[in-house]
Amino acid sequence: MKRTLIILAAGKGTRMKSPLPKVLHPLLGRPMLAHLLEATRTLQFDETAVVVGHGAERVEALLAPTGVKTVLQEPQLGTGHALMACEKFLRDSGESECMLVAGDVPLLPVEEALFFRERFHESGAKAAVVAIDLPDPTGYGRILTSDDETVDSIVEERDATEREKRLTWVNSGAYFFKSPWILDALKEIGNDNSQGEYYLTDIFARLKETGEAARLYRSCKPKAWLGVNTQAQLADMTDALRRSVVEEWMERGVVVMDTKSTWIETQVKLGAGVVLQPYVRLCGKTTIGGGVEIRSFSTITDCSIGADSLVKEHCVLEKTVTGKGCSIGPFSRTREGTVLEEDVRLGNFVETKKAHLESGVKASHLSYLGDAAVGEGSNIGAGTITCNYDGVNKNRTVLGKNVFIGSDTQLVAPVTVGDGAYVGAGTTVTKEVPPGSLAVSRTPQKNIQGWVERKKENGNASSGER
Ligand code: UD1
Ligand code: CA
Repeated sequence: MKRTLIILAAGKGTRMKSPLPKVLHPLLGRPMLAHLLEATRTLQFDETAVVVGHGAERVEALLAPTGVKTVLQEPQLGTGHALMACEKFLRDSGESECMLVAGDVPLLPVEEALFFRERFHESGAKAAVVAIDLPDPTGYGRILTSDDETVDSIVEERDATEREKRLTWVNSGAYFFKSPWILDALKEIGNDNSQGEYYLTDIFARLKETGEAARLYRSCKPKAWLGVNTQAQLADMTDALRRSVVEEWMERGVVVMDTKSTWIETQVKLGAGVVLQPYVRLCGKTTIGGGVEIRSFSTITDCSIGADSLVKEHCVLEKTVTGKGCSIGPFSRTREGTVLEEDVRLGNFVETKKAHLESGVKASHLSYLGDAAVGEGSNIGAGTITCNYDGVNKNRTVLGKNVFIGSDTQLVAPVTVGDGAYVGAGTTVTKEVPPGSLAVSRTPQKNIQGWVERKKENGNASSGER
């Protein structure tokens, strides 16, 4: 029997009150839908489809690289209607057991899902629903049941009586269905309710009537199955996830000085003995080598930082790869394509982009190095700038090994400085500097004796007023 998965992600997410499609809202820095897809990957479905509608292009853009199919639901007339939109997907998949989840359940509990899927497979039932027990069930569909195992019906909050509203076992929004059977069952439901929508949940009363009552799977992980409906819930879930990721890393020997302000996203990997000061943010696919210390207010995104490096306060590092023992910051900014080999030193207010700095290079103060290659052991003086953009093209600067660039140098690219060459402070380098030579471009200094005194005598400075 094939196993298929349908994720509903076409709804507007009205309660989020945001122009961003709900499933693209970030949970600990990553779209909710990306978390869900990652969770379902371990369940190895034969086919997966995501129903898109509201903000379809943006959701499709996220899905494009994953190979997951999308089904467009336009307009969005309810959860039952969303599943109807999957008719072709389900027919093409043939006989299958289909799991259906909402896209706003980013932290799907994989083990329990697997357990329920097995139970459903063995039960021979046509449908099953995952139920959760909530102290405050407001907003959720209540499950009416007369035994422990099966569902009589599901009543939406808006259509529930006071008595039904007191029921705490609610519909998680996750189901298992036999397909293509479900397609016929869907034909039975209408939109005669307070919302004028096709409620998927209406099929459960029908099933009961026909003697094929759906199975009820009571979850032990209500929090995980609980979707996100509001910004406040998203913030709570983000904080809970953040906290659990931080705790996991502490168990593996990472030193976290302040558990409340440390932000480590789920795809980050940390070596043993990493030290994180308060207010550090590690984002995206970042890998931090063993023994690295990261000081306060630094944000590192999609980087690989070599072992025993030090990232001082207030650095912003992106798409950067470093070797062992580098020292970066405070206030350094490395951008995409920065590669630092071993023992490289970047100091305050140094910005790099597409710059490859070989081992032992030092750029300690106030520099911009873009589209540049710097050979081993070279020293970049304070205020050095690569003029990499001529208004049309980006051009490269190539510096050899053990080059010394004096302070306040402009390197007008494309330009090359040979091994061991020196560039005098304040030089504008516009042509190749051969290896071992000195380049200086400066107007010779002249001193005009007595100039200040004469200026005063002319009355300009004497009154003390201007
Ligand atoms: C739904 C259930 C409710 C359950 C709750 C759990 C129905 C009628 N109600 O209510 O019993 O307790 O989920 O969270 O199903 N969607 C579409 N197309 C649509 C409408 C919705 O794809 O036309 C998607 C949404 O993007 C969302 C999911 O379906 O991912 C659930 O929709 P939502 O509007 O959140 O349903 P609830 O009112 O929360
Ligand atoms: Ca919901």
